[in-house]
Amino acid sequence: MADLTSGKGKPPALSTYSASQIGTNIMSWKRICGSGDIAVNSLEKFNVDGIDIVVANYGDGFRAFPPVCPHMEEPLAETGVLVRCVLTCTKHLWAWDLKTLELRGPAEKPLKTYEMKEEGGDIFAFIDQELVYDFDEEADDPDDDFFSKS
Ligand code: FES
Repeated sequence: MADLTSGKGKPPALSTYSASQIGTNIMSWKRICGSGDIAVNSLEKFNVDGIDIVVANYGDGFRAFPPVCPHMEEPLAETGVLVRCVLTCTKHLWAWDLKTLELRGPAEKPLKTYEMKEEGGDIFAFIDQELVYDFDEEADDPDDDFFSKS
């Protein structure tokens, strides 16, 4: 984790960023909300500088991740269920242990997550770019094409 308070992990001066980095995507810690604003075993959706994220309070900590299921884009803030550290997408029951990030149930793809920290009663996510899933992978899998089999 970058230590932005000691100076060792201090980001470079603005002049060292390339032109393409200047804008809304300069990497930084973003305050999401107060630590007590998300109840245990619940999910909340936030928009941080135009990037939608979901933050889960799994009891022992927080995880921030993209708002859709990596399987078929189900909106996890609305249909995800969080019980005993395990987030389950109720569409096809893909699940992930939010403490270890291990796959559970029939899940075939990992949950992408933003780095998080808790400081001074607030929670922060390190957002340098929007995390997205490649939903075309399965379409390119020849084993999934029933009509191409002889
Ligand atoms: S869309 Fe989430 S498990 Fe299928």
